[in-house]
Amino acid sequence: MTPQFTRTFNPAPASKARRDDVLADPGFGRHFSDHMVTIRWTVDRGWHDPAVLPYGPLALDPASMVLHYGQEIFEGLKAYRQPDGSIASFRPDANAARFRGSAMRMAMPELPDDLFLASLSELLAVDHEWVPAAGGDDSFYLRPFMLATETGLGVRPSSEYLFALIGGPAGSYFPGSTIKPVDVWLTTDYARAALGGTGTAKCGGNYAASLLPQAQAAAHGCAQVAYLDAGERKWIEEMGSNNLFFVFGSGDHAEVVTPSLTGTILAGIIRDSVLVLAKELGCEVTERRVSAEELLEGVAAGRITEVFGSGTAAVIAPIGGVKHAGGDVRVGDGRPGEVTMKLRTLLTSIQRGVGPDTYSWMRTLVPA
Ligand SMILES: Cc1ncc(COP(=O)(O)O)c(C=O)c1O
Repeated sequence: MTPQFTRTFNPAPASKARRDDVLADPGFGRHFSDHMVTIRWTVDRGWHDPAVLPYGPLALDPASMVLHYGQEIFEGLKAYRQPDGSIASFRPDANAARFRGSAMRMAMPELPDDLFLASLSELLAVDHEWVPAAGGDDSFYLRPFMLATETGLGVRPSSEYLFALIGGPAGSYFPGSTIKPVDVWLTTDYARAALGGTGTAKCGGNYAASLLPQAQAAAHGCAQVAYLDAGERKWIEEMGSNNLFFVFGSGDHAEVVTPSLTGTILAGIIRDSVLVLAKELGCEVTERRVSAEELLEGVAAGRITEVFGSGTAAVIAPIGGVKHAGGDVRVGDGRPGEVTMKLRTLLTSIQRGVGPDTYSWMRTLVPA
């Protein structure tokens, strides 16, 4: 049975005027709701003390293990206001399972799925007024994370952990809600993950290591980095926070291809959903290795007609060009591709509660 969460209400929550101001232009990751959830873990007691608390600073001893050895994992998912006023999330059970997988890789205790899911409902039950209205592009971004809190130095798994959940409203990934293709930088200087490493885990260290290549991409006018495999430096893996898809051909003959999960790629939940929905569209769907050479030549020759990224933040982001040390190839005619946009519409309609949820992907977190 899921333990009862205690609730301590924020004595100074944001005023309605302040909240309305934030909701008018939420941006991303800039504003957080009035509360947070914490759950503690110790060797002796396991998971205990689930609590909803006022959003605020965490007190950490300077010798907390996370600060020295980076034992930290996180998730990212969105909650959407539904037309009937309820609040639902897209496949949060998959985030719960991936969170457990990340914990296992980082030698951390696994948070049971029911506690993970209950934490989402608890936060939103208290902070539901922070969830943007139905019918638009805005959502409420949820950020569960876990860190090693044992005080002491020495490289070994911590004996104490803190799970926490914060969240806040998120605006459309695309300014003005106009879907505009972005360019990606194909790096040959850096790799994201090696076999046996932590590529399949969502741990903070992976993202710390991505900041330098991301800056390189920005310097080349690109929004994201695309990585090659660390071994042969030949095969396309994924981007810094999105999985990659390539559309070969068009119309009835479109084939949707994504790099197979070979043990270094983060198994995206949108990626998995795209594989299902692309079949529904009548596309052939293939998971296989795609080399940088095949991508660049395929785009240049028009065999690859569309390229897009998939991830919780943008859902589906069309890619207009691939830049690399040897040049720059443009995808299609510079506009978002047909398959890309059909998939995006299918997905966002399910998330917003206006399309048939054939696979029961939506989970109500707060009833109407
Ligand atoms: C490295 C990486 N790849 C792919 C994704 C896409 O995953 P999802 O579709 O679950 O958001 C993310 C985002 O979580 C990511 O950080």
